[in-house]
Amino acid sequence: MCGIVGYIGDKQATPILLKGLRRLEYRGYDSAGIAIMQPDGIFRERSVGKIEKLVGKLQGQTPEGTVGIAHTRWATHGGVTEANAHPHTAADGDLVLAHNGIIENYRELKKELGDVKYKSETDSEVLAHLIASFYEGDLRKAVMKALARVRGTYGLVVMHRKEPEKIIAARLGSPLVIGIGDHEHYIASDPTPMLAYTKRVTFLDDGEVAEVTKDNVQTFNLKDKAITKHIEEIEWNDEQAQKQGFAHFMLKEIFDQPTVFEDAIRGRVEAEEGTAHLGGINLTEKEMRNIKRVMLIACGTASYAAMVGKYAFERLAELPCEVDVASEFRYRDPILDEQTLVFVISQSGETADTLAALREAKRKGAKVRGIINVIGSTIAREAHGGTYIHAGPELAVASTKAYTNMVAILLLYALQFGRLRRVTVATGQRIVNALLAIPEKMQTILKQNDAIEAIADTYTRYQDMLFLGRGVNFPVALEGSLKLKEIAYVHSEAYPGGEMKHGPIALLSEDFPVVAIVTKNQLYDKMRSNIEEIRARKAKTFLIATEGDADIAELANDIIYVPNTMELLEPLLNTIPLQLFAYHMAVKLGKDVDRPRNLAKSVTVE
Ligand code: M6R
Repeated sequence: MCGIVGYIGDKQATPILLKGLRRLEYRGYDSAGIAIMQPDGIFRERSVGKIEKLVGKLQGQTPEGTVGIAHTRWATHGGVTEANAHPHTAADGDLVLAHNGIIENYRELKKELGDVKYKSETDSEVLAHLIASFYEGDLRKAVMKALARVRGTYGLVVMHRKEPEKIIAARLGSPLVIGIGDHEHYIASDPTPMLAYTKRVTFLDDGEVAEVTKDNVQTFNLKDKAITKHIEEIEWNDEQAQKQGFAHFMLKEIFDQPTVFEDAIRGRVEAEEGTAHLGGINLTEKEMRNIKRVMLIACGTASYAAMVGKYAFERLAELPCEVDVASEFRYRDPILDEQTLVFVISQSGETADTLAALREAKRKGAKVRGIINVIGSTIAREAHGGTYIHAGPELAVASTKAYTNMVAILLLYALQFGRLRRVTVATGQRIVNALLAIPEKMQTILKQNDAIEAIADTYTRYQDMLFLGRGVNFPVALEGSLKLKEIAYVHSEAYPGGEMKHGPIALLSEDFPVVAIVTKNQLYDKMRSNIEEIRARKAKTFLIATEGDADIAELANDIIYVPNTMELLEPLLNTIPLQLFAYHMAVKLGKDVDRPRNLAKSVTVE
């Protein structure tokens, strides 16, 4: 995936576009580029690497102009080179285009276009030439004719020198938001680049093309029929999208957790009734009682949140619950019916595999709800209902606060179903009270940041690690291991404690440390025995244990204590020390914490 920004108005476009690109850098950071409409033609600059490289290339100059587009790339077709960086040009530089997505039939189109001199290896440049080939003085019409020939996905912004006061934007499968200001408009892949200027936005839907001028936005479908769009207010604010004094977005987002957790549960729990009310379920009580099975579908970190959700649905609501990785879901002939409730879980709401799973589940007749962070995202809009997790903008590639809030919402849904089935008022009240106490307990863990940093310092020499947990803490182990891999590039595996002796124990040695979650719950004694087995193999241990458990310290080389809570809620706390551990490991190993190599924040290609 890539990030697109566009601006048209009275202000200088360059600073707005560069600032916008920085906000979108999480979407891709292989190369970046900018194009500004100027009286004598279109200025363009591109660079391999992050936005700052592009800024360096501009050498302190601000190309003048009040209309422009920009792009930050995550390479799909064509290597990471300046020639492949967007915006691409056609018609001798008169037309510029920035594209997010994949033009699947670009080879075919290339053949049809015949004798064109391509300057890049990208599918996007072919699209630029295709649009140019249809141009007869009306850019929107040319874009629409070209898009009628395209197979694939696109989020697209296009400018033409002969129509200097216009940007054409189009969307199919790659998000685009238009921000509405005072005699100005912003266009971007998500709302974060425009938060400083406007909260009023309209989301383009698939198959829509917008003609954007400084005073007007006209939207059409691909059959050239005008469409009336709704304007929505974005709740996020610009401050949330800044580092606020933290060294990295990831650290800031880890520290955001107590606050955004409160945002997630506020107004959604009822202490007296011991229940939760999530309107997004969109089902009557009768329909809820009729649900026979729950499926949770997600990728990466969101799938580990889903695994926690499975424990909650089964324990509280006695509902059979399956967790599927979205990329596998539709290839395994899943059995679904109208008594199956499917939740698709995604921070970005744009993950291609999760979106495809959602569509497949809908096609098979299931009721599909979203648990999503990004407001107005594709999955949020295509689901039959659902709930925003209210984590605010998450800009580090490694997901942290979104995970916590996904777990929170899944717990609330499980409680809501549970109260209709088997959970008593008293138990419901205990759960709600335990949830309300979580933010303060998170603070207690965050206060141990320095201690966790000191521990991380003693693990940087290891190439491999094992993460162990049991029950609800197995997904926590998986999440801790994923964080370490993706930002510190340290190989690690995660296993349920009981599985260790069925294979991975062979790996253990003085050079293969183990991070284990051994908090006081029903599996404590079992987990403790697993740690004894580790110690017998001389592997170093870093334990996450419950406050007051002095005994366990004898089995630990390093230990972090977390406050006690109900077992089902433990992942909300136990994950935090592992997030901080991975963060400090990455910093100490000199890695780019917020922009780890090869990754992008949301994966909009299959
Ligand atoms: O936006 P999504 O929640 O759908 O993204 C899913 C995964 O791509 C994401 O969680 C990924 O695993 C993160 N890099 C984890 O930190």
